[in-house]
Amino acid sequence: MIQTEHQRRAYLEALGIDVWVPRDQADMQDNPVAAEQDETKLDWQQLREAVAACTRCILHESRTQTVFGVGDPDADWMIIGEAPGAEEDRRGEPFVGRAGKLLDEMLRAIGQKRESVFIANILKCRPPNNRDPKADEASSCRGYLERQIDLVSPKIILAAGRIAAQQLLGTDAPVGRLRGKLHHLREIPVVVTYHPAYLLRSPSQKRKAWDDLCMAKRLADGSPA
Ligand code: URA
Repeated sequence: MIQTEHQRRAYLEALGIDVWVPRDQADMQDNPVAAEQDETKLDWQQLREAVAACTRCILHESRTQTVFGVGDPDADWMIIGEAPGAEEDRRGEPFVGRAGKLLDEMLRAIGQKRESVFIANILKCRPPNNRDPKADEASSCRGYLERQIDLVSPKIILAAGRIAAQQLLGTDAPVGRLRGKLHHLREIPVVVTYHPAYLLRSPSQKRKAWDDLCMAKRLADGSPA
């Protein structure tokens, strides 16, 4: 019995029968990076390598390096932000600039630390001049994030800011309407909060962010929202 597509092709070729392969499949045969484009089965190391080598969107041309994500691969909490900024692009780690310092403080306030959560972004590469991610950039990067979520399998996802919330939840509603409610992504509870960079500009909103963190903590602890 002919078992695999590869064997089937070899068999037809041996019989002198032309085998027509769709172009995207043909590219994947010649290109091991493209062949790994199905990231749903990658382990952490393979996923890291795939992200580091990624050229799926234009942002690879201007990045210093990719920013994969950081933290405990078995974390209960996953924090998802927007995209690396200048400092993150330089250091290869998410949320290490001023907004990152505030995120660290927010986490400390609820008994978590950077090393005990997993922090990632919608985009793994910095958009030039910190512009918003474009739709094609977010969708090119989506599989990496989905796989990170699969591998971490968190109890709670905290979406930090408008871009993260809208991208994760597939909505264009503003953060003000999304926060304070329980959302789900593939059955994982998602809480939306303000981006720490916004909180630096609007400290009066920190009270609401605190409420969001408390809600996320209740959910992570298995209590009702
Ligand atoms: N803002 C984000 O959304 N992510 C980072 O990594 C840094 C700043």
